[in-house]
Amino acid sequence: MKIAIGHTRWATHGVASNENAHPHFDSENSLALVHNGIIENFDEIKNFLINKKKIFLSETDSEVLAHLIAYNYKKDIIKALKSSLDIIKGSYAIAFIHKDFPKRIILASKDSPMAIGFTENKKEIIISSDPNSFVGRNLHVLFLQNDELGFIENNEIFIFNKNLKKIAKQAEKVNCKNISFSKNNFEHYMLKEIYEQPFTIQKTILGRISKNSQNCYFEEHTIDIDFLNRFKNIKLIACGTSYHASLLASYLFEDISKIETRAYIGSEMRFQNILNIKESLIIAISQSGETADTILPVKELKKNGATVLSIINKSNSTLSRESDYSLYLKAGPEFSVCSTKAFTSQISLLLLLAIHFEKLKNNNKSNSDYLIKNLLKVPNEIKKLLKRAEEIKKLSIKYAKYENFYFLGKNLMYVTAVEAALKLKEISYINATAYPAGEMKHGPLALVNGNLPIVAFMANDKTYDKMYSNVIEAKTRGSPILAIAKKKDKDIEKIADDVFYIDDSIDETAIFSSSVFGQLFAYYIAKERNTDIDQPRNLAKSVTVE
Ligand code: AGP
Repeated sequence: MKIAIGHTRWATHGVASNENAHPHFDSENSLALVHNGIIENFDEIKNFLINKKKIFLSETDSEVLAHLIAYNYKKDIIKALKSSLDIIKGSYAIAFIHKDFPKRIILASKDSPMAIGFTENKKEIIISSDPNSFVGRNLHVLFLQNDELGFIENNEIFIFNKNLKKIAKQAEKVNCKNISFSKNNFEHYMLKEIYEQPFTIQKTILGRISKNSQNCYFEEHTIDIDFLNRFKNIKLIACGTSYHASLLASYLFEDISKIETRAYIGSEMRFQNILNIKESLIIAISQSGETADTILPVKELKKNGATVLSIINKSNSTLSRESDYSLYLKAGPEFSVCSTKAFTSQISLLLLLAIHFEKLKNNNKSNSDYLIKNLLKVPNEIKKLLKRAEEIKKLSIKYAKYENFYFLGKNLMYVTAVEAALKLKEISYINATAYPAGEMKHGPLALVNGNLPIVAFMANDKTYDKMYSNVIEAKTRGSPILAIAKKKDKDIEKIADDVFYIDDSIDETAIFSSSVFGQLFAYYIAKERNTDIDQPRNLAKSVTVE
């Protein structure tokens, strides 16, 4: 059996350079190591090792692991690894090779995913911190849990618990064979995934709505009134675009299900005093299921008795293993760093959940049947909008010259604006800031001028009139106005320089077409600016470090 290790680096400590690239070696070049995660106490360990005359070649935290394991290695390499990990603080998925064990890859994991995929006869064994790398194969996959370590050697897998007792682990069959890397003739994965949305939203909702469109159900788990009655409120946890989906869900659960709900940013939640944990249904949302900023608060909440339902796109993820219940988007792999189809599938599933909770509470004397009927129209509405991509492209080309944007909205359109601003920021590197439109007069208006276009998300009947006057405040101070509005709201043409009309729809489903506009608007501006759309600078598809 031949062995090899490799690493694609997302820099946490030290710039992207040859010196900082993995693998890292010890001073005697006896071992080579790759690491995913963050060593929080690397400074003190590095100073200790420098005092032991170890020569460091990089600025990374990871390099201390190579030197530390070599320093601790006497005769037993697993014991050397274990004693090194006992003093490490932080997160790690480690793989290394050592000259004394030429047929062995040694590994360990804590708060950073580590999957071991292998063929039926173990002729091929792949270790990865992201199971996405198994695409194109049918494999048995096992996942290391925290503080487990081990090695592969001669087509065998050896795993030990933290007391170095050998343990047997149950592998899962993961069918990645038919997952295709193809872009299907689209120039970018992002555009392909934007165009998949009529289909992926259908995949997310159709298996969950009864034939008469009266009821919702979730084949993964029984979510009935007994389940719901266990909780007094809902707390959502997520990051980035998934946080925006959770923010939208907080409006939907309160408006439709009448359940007190709050959305938390994962990286903040760990440092907040979270109340009434046992009475809360914790809903964690993550496309990848590997985001450390979402997983770590989930782990802490679980320790305090929380019940966690996660909404995930990728199966076999760390988050699903940490959750009591998991619902899956079924949107298929999302390769572009910039999340699009996962977002619209997340809000589809969350809207369904809000409707379902309302029905459970009202014992089917429900007033949310109209919501289901309107949600079922969304795939077609998006299909129609995608046919108008050229109109959006023209708008993008017109507005691509600006370096700063405000994105404004109210209520559900505020969160739609926040998500659209993130799309533009992350793929075109333009400074786009979203505000609740009413906030402009409390400060942001100071920046408004002819070089600061306003993208106004108007498709919300409840707030349209107020939004209209907020936009006038910016218009009178010189901002170019690009409005996204429902077809019936023709008067917006009086104040907007450009208007993109979406199909008349209810407020709850206007978020879909408005969001797809935001995705394409950002995509075509980024194309105009020739940026690396699928892999924008400084970003990773799943951020497995804090
Ligand atoms: C969205 O376009 C970004 N790629 C990013 O904000 C992402 O949504 C965030 O990192 C959360 O990822 P997750 O859904 O896999 O947890």
